[in-house]
Amino acid sequence: MRRRPPRILAVDDQPINLELLAAYLGGVDCELTIARDGFEALGQIARRQPDLVLLDVVMPGMDGFEVCRRIKADPANRLLPVVLVTSLSDVDNRIRGLEVGADDILAKPIDRNELMARVLTLIRTKEIVDHLDDAEHVMLAFAKAVEAKDCGTEAHVERVARGARALGEAAGLSGGDLDSLYFGGLVHDVGKIGVPDAILLKTGSLSHAETELMRRHVLIGFDIAQPLRSAASVVPIIRNHHERFDGCGYPDGLKGMDIPLAARIVAVCDAYDAMISDRPYRAAMSSSSAAAALQAGAGTQWDPGLVRLFMATVLHEPRSALTEHGQPGGTFSSM
Ligand SMILES: [Fe+2]
Repeated sequence: MRRRPPRILAVDDQPINLELLAAYLGGVDCELTIARDGFEALGQIARRQPDLVLLDVVMPGMDGFEVCRRIKADPANRLLPVVLVTSLSDVDNRIRGLEVGADDILAKPIDRNELMARVLTLIRTKEIVDHLDDAEHVMLAFAKAVEAKDCGTEAHVERVARGARALGEAAGLSGGDLDSLYFGGLVHDVGKIGVPDAILLKTGSLSHAETELMRRHVLIGFDIAQPLRSAASVVPIIRNHHERFDGCGYPDGLKGMDIPLAARIVAVCDAYDAMISDRPYRAAMSSSSAAAALQAGAGTQWDPGLVRLFMATVLHEPRSALTEHGQPGGTFSSM
């Protein structure tokens, strides 16, 4: 299937500069659109999702630095390349450009060959990144298939994902680490796609052999995620979210701080949400009972510092990520 031509957005308040860019890019197979100020640019980015932005710096109203900062502050645009085009060639302005997240800086007057080289390189990189992003989407589709099969508990993983992000933030993490926690929360049980339905959906307690098969979901998930470079940051979550702080968990028997931090964070949020959700074999626990169970397991099952932090922050936020529960539903197994 042929990909659509890349979309380039050129932003400049001077029509003559836009005409020059259009002429220079005439030989590139692309859809070129224009915006004459920062506000128009941000609106177009939200509507048209370009693959590359060529952004003038000196503009009335909102300058290019601020436009770039706003573009990069939106997680949906973190992979959108932005090239600042500027006659401000001094070092301070170049540093400022990099500080606001620009991917490249092009000096005015624009050299046609330099422009072509930068544009083609960034478009090619964006195509590769989009392809890797597709791998994440495939994993998410698997995870959603598991949740749909598991009596429609899609809301469970969403709550785990939000809780993990909130707990990570409370633990001092930021940026890409929080994105990984959120995505890891969504896909941590992706390996259940490989667990037979008869076990996954069983209403009674599992035999020893069935328990062993159920536990394989962390290794099946690992096998799915491990070859995907874009999923590298969530592999430890998928593999190690059932380790125990005392070393008695699975699959690797890791202990204490040897368990990856992201896996320890998801383990706390996953366990709490599993406890306050209905199961075929038991009703949902009250939030106070679940909190007491978490505290009882702090230091043996879960990281005691994270349990403390979870109680103090995530559970006490006015609209807590894990208490916006709507219909408690589902059969998510904490296994
Ligand atoms: Fe799990």
